[in-house]
Amino acid sequence: MVDESLNLNTVLDDSWQALSTAAGSPFHPFRFAWLATVDEGSAAQVRTVVLRAASAEHRELVCFSDARAPKIGQIRANPQVSWCFFDPTAGVQIRALGRAEVLVGGDRVESLFAAVDEASLVNYAAPLPPGTELDGATGGGSSSATSTESISFRALARTSFAVIVTRVDRLDWLQLSPTGNRRARFEWAADGSLTSNWVQA
Ligand SMILES: Cc1cc2nc3c(=O)[nH]c(=O)nc-3n(C[C@H](O)[C@H](O)[C@H](O)COP(=O)(O)O)c2cc1C
Repeated sequence: MVDESLNLNTVLDDSWQALSTAAGSPFHPFRFAWLATVDEGSAAQVRTVVLRAASAEHRELVCFSDARAPKIGQIRANPQVSWCFFDPTAGVQIRALGRAEVLVGGDRVESLFAAVDEASLVNYAAPLPPGTELDGATGGGSSSATSTESISFRALARTSFAVIVTRVDRLDWLQLSPTGNRRARFEWAADGSLTSNWVQA
């Protein structure tokens, strides 16, 4: 059933609210998102990431990465990125385009890293950069240290921990419905002014 009372402001507010909620909720469908970058050959590169924070006020989407990952170099060379989220229960897709920045130092990175739990440190402490070809028959996971070395393991993980912050310039909302799909587009100009439109789904 299409909600006739829906207006563009509500769609935008609800979208940011859902993203913000998802960033703090392990089981929210928007928590796992797809982040697309452009590589050096102009090919689109898309991968799953965990949404770590979303802010309507700052129009930001945040994820973490290993600073040695290929996506980091891609973003530094071309900061235009695209995010995609899908909630199958609500039938809602959100796509967000914007400019990404890679942060590896500073107060914000330090406080985000301080909150990374022990179990997740392994994501930033691999002995080799992500994507490095491995010798041998298995592609099994590897870690650099055991839990008994957790203090040095945390320090090791810190050396490769990076935060990717995207400033959203365009948000595209699509809701699937048997009675008619609805789609809205929100675009922010360089001066911050917002243009909102319903568009053909
Ligand atoms: C469920 C899931 C969540 C993931 N979350 C992240 C993440 O938050 N950050 C990240 O850098 N990679 C994450 N990955 C791994 C990426 O999808 C990707 O394989 C890896 O980062 C290498 O990407 P790149 O070679 O394009 O840099 C996740 C993978 C899965 C399956």
